Formats: sequence, C-alpha cells, structure tokens
Amino acid sequence: MTEQEFSYKPFASQGFYQVVNKQLVEMVDFHPGQRVVDLACGTGAVTRLILEKLKGARDSLVIGIDMSATAIREAMAQLSNVKDVALELIHSRAEQLSEIVKEHVDGVVFCNGIHMVPDKTELMSEVAITLRPGGTFAFNTTFFNGAVPEESEQFYRRWMSKSIRSLKKNHDMLPSRDVEKVAARVQLSVEEYEELLAQSGFTIKRKDLCPAPMDLEGFLAISQYEAFIEGAMPGVPLELGSESLQNGARLAFEELKLKDVPRNWLSVVATRD
Ligand SMILES: C[S@@+](CC[C@H](N)C(=O)[O-])C[C@H]1O[C@@H](n2cnc3c(N)ncnc32)[C@H](O)[C@@H]1O
Repeated sequence: MTEQEFSYKPFASQGFYQVVNKQLVEMVDFHPGQRVVDLACGTGAVTRLILEKLKGARDSLVIGIDMSATAIREAMAQLSNVKDVALELIHSRAEQLSEIVKEHVDGVVFCNGIHMVPDKTELMSEVAITLRPGGTFAFNTTFFNGAVPEESEQFYRRWMSKSIRSLKKNHDMLPSRDVEKVAARVQLSVEEYEELLAQSGFTIKRKDLCPAPMDLEGFLAISQYEAFIEGAMPGVPLELGSESLQNGARLAFEELKLKDVPRNWLSVVATRD
C-alpha cells in the first residue's frame, strides 16, 4: 500500500464537504489585491476557493501552509495550473505562522484542522500577530463538542463497536489503550472557542452551526484518511484500521437502516481588534 491511499482526497471530494467550505469562504469579504493565508491547506481544495476570490489583481497573494509534506506535494500538483494569483505552498506547522509570514496579511483561513492543534491559545496568538488590525480569521470544524446531535450518538457507538469487532474477528487485534488522546479527540465547545477568541484579541463577526448530514460514502471516505484512522484506531496499522472502520460503517448503516447521519459544522468569522 502507498501513503497516498490514506490521503484526505476521497473525503475532500465529497459534495457536502465542498458546500460547507464554500459557505465559509463566502462568509468572508475577501477581494482581489489581498494577501490571505490558508492554514492547514491540505491537498488544496479550500486554497482553490480562496484563489478564485482573489484573482484579477497583481498584488493578490495566497500562502498555503501544511505540516504534511505529502499534502503539500499533492496541493502543488492540484494547483499547478493557477495563473492569475501569486501562490506559495509551504511545508510547516501552523504554530510557526509568524516566523514564516513576516508581513501582515488581510486574512487567515483554517478549514477543518483547528481541532488537530493541541495548543489553540498559542495558535490564536500566532494568527493575531500575523493579521493586520481589522484582518479576518475564519475557521470551520466538525470536531467540536456539539457536532454530534443526540439522535446520531447511537450510530457512532454502533460504528465503533462494529469496527472493533471486525478488527478482532479478521485480524485478532484490538486498538491500543495506551496511546495518548490525539488532539482531535479533545474537543472544545462553541463557548470555549468564543472565549479563546476574545482572550486572543478577536471580535466574532459571524458564527454558524450548519447541519451537514453525512451519507455512507462520506464515512467510507473519512475511514481512508490517515489522521482519522490513527485517532479512531490507535496503534492499529493504517490498512487494517481503514478496512475495519469501513466494515463497521457499512454494518451500522445497514442495521440502523440509515440514509445519512446528521452532523453539525461550526463556522466562525472573526476580526482582529
Ligand atoms: C482535515 S485536513 C483539512 C485540509 C483543508 N484545510 C480542507 O479543509 O480541505 C487537515 C489538515 O491539517 C493539517 N494539519 C493538522 N495540524 C496541523 C498543524 N499543527 N499545522 C499545520 N497543518 C496541520 C494536516 O496535515 C491536514 O492536511
């Protein structure tokens, strides 16, 4: 198996996923001539949306940053045909933002990754240093306390128990219990994000909870993503973890006779004071 088979690409191409990201980028008033950072740009799906907003002016600049070298390589390939806007893709951690981007920017976007950052206070301070006063910080996530409505909890319990049973049955293996909780599993509530933003010198301009029901295809796609497999099946080889999570999702959908599973996306747009 190659590394690429556990990339984020299958999930990033899901229709509902593109809709929630587009909604966030539309919520921000970006325009040609601005300089915008796409933090944790992954394979470049959101970077492309930002580039579209900024094209048409010589000064426009988009800087994509991601800690995964594989993701940056993939983003370079996906965005190789970009012409009208200057684009830089940089392999680095979001926590080093102010070291990498020395001049103030007009916007920082962080889609579907903020939950993965262990120290969110440090991250927000980096974003505040890098943004010009009045600049915009926009982020979204579906890994927060409140993302899973009560009616979906039964599905998640069934999915995990079926996945673990499939791993045991087919490979005589269980996920490890000793592995430290990955950052994505320690989820903040909306109120905690609000507090953190206020403490870091931001004013919230817009905050939305968007319902985004996920179908089986979405669960099969997220089960092929390295970071998700590592979080859900700690200590299990990626190939076996992915297979078990996909088996578990199919069985849970079948047994509960589901078409999709309700889930919420949190979108926040804030400006630097
Ligand atoms: C779920 S993907 C989202 C990609 C893209 N923003 C999107 O919405 O399609 C999360 C990305 O965050 C990156 N990431 C996670 N923690 C990071 C950090 N501390 N610094 C930089 N990138 C990070 C991962 O490498 C991954 O590419």
